[in-house]
Amino acid sequence: MQCSVFIAATIDGFIARLNHDIDFLPEGDVEEHGFTEFYASVDALVMGRLSYEKVLSFGEWHYGSKPIIVLSSRDIPMPSASEARVERLSGSPREIVQALSSRGWNHLYIDGGVTITRFLEAGLIQRMIITRVPVLIGTGIPLFGALPRDIQLSHVATRSYKSGLVQSEYTVTDGASG
Ligand SMILES: NC(=O)c1ccc[n+]([C@@H]2O[C@H](COP(=O)([O-])OP(=O)(O)OC[C@H]3O[C@@H](n4cnc5c(N)ncnc54)[C@H](OP(=O)(O)O)[C@@H]3O)[C@@H](O)[C@H]2O)c1
Repeated sequence: MQCSVFIAATIDGFIARLNHDIDFLPEGDVEEHGFTEFYASVDALVMGRLSYEKVLSFGEWHYGSKPIIVLSSRDIPMPSASEARVERLSGSPREIVQALSSRGWNHLYIDGGVTITRFLEAGLIQRMIITRVPVLIGTGIPLFGALPRDIQLSHVATRSYKSGLVQSEYTVTDGASG
């Protein structure tokens, strides 16, 4: 199973404000920066409950019929969009990957700061595409959390966009498995 990250963060490393606002992210007509191709390549999106709550707050459903696996230890509300395919799972990252692998899925998109950090810690992420937004917000929800050990990354490429977005792609060279 391949697990990838595709996420936007501020230059100071935050993915949301403390109140979960993401108003600093480019909106609307943002130039294509690889997301469409990446999204088409994944079998399912695995996101933490807090990211899912943010998604629900948008009102509109932007995920089509791609399977969305929400990780949570509690019941979650379902979206109203009829095409939405949302399911809740809980367990260790390895158990989650094993369960989804048994469905014949080969590529998962892992989303949410806490969730990404847990999957990294378990050695289950192979690729990360991180798009830096040219802003400092001082405080917020961090992309990465505390780790019990260093995780070595290998730089694949860095792409810059007219809007000021700078996107770096890495493979995880240490601890990746699964
Ligand atoms: N900038 C971007 O591109 C971007 C992308 C995604 C999200 N975001 C933002 O990031 C924020 C959310 O990120 P976050 O780091 O705070 O949290 P998160 O990773 O989205 O969610 C954390 C929660 O997920 C659940 N969880 C994670 N792993 C689990 C597991 N293995 N088993 C069971 N439950 C598990 C737990 O929920 P329970 O407490 O219910 O058990 C945990 O509290 C939101 O504000 C969102 O808007 C930004």
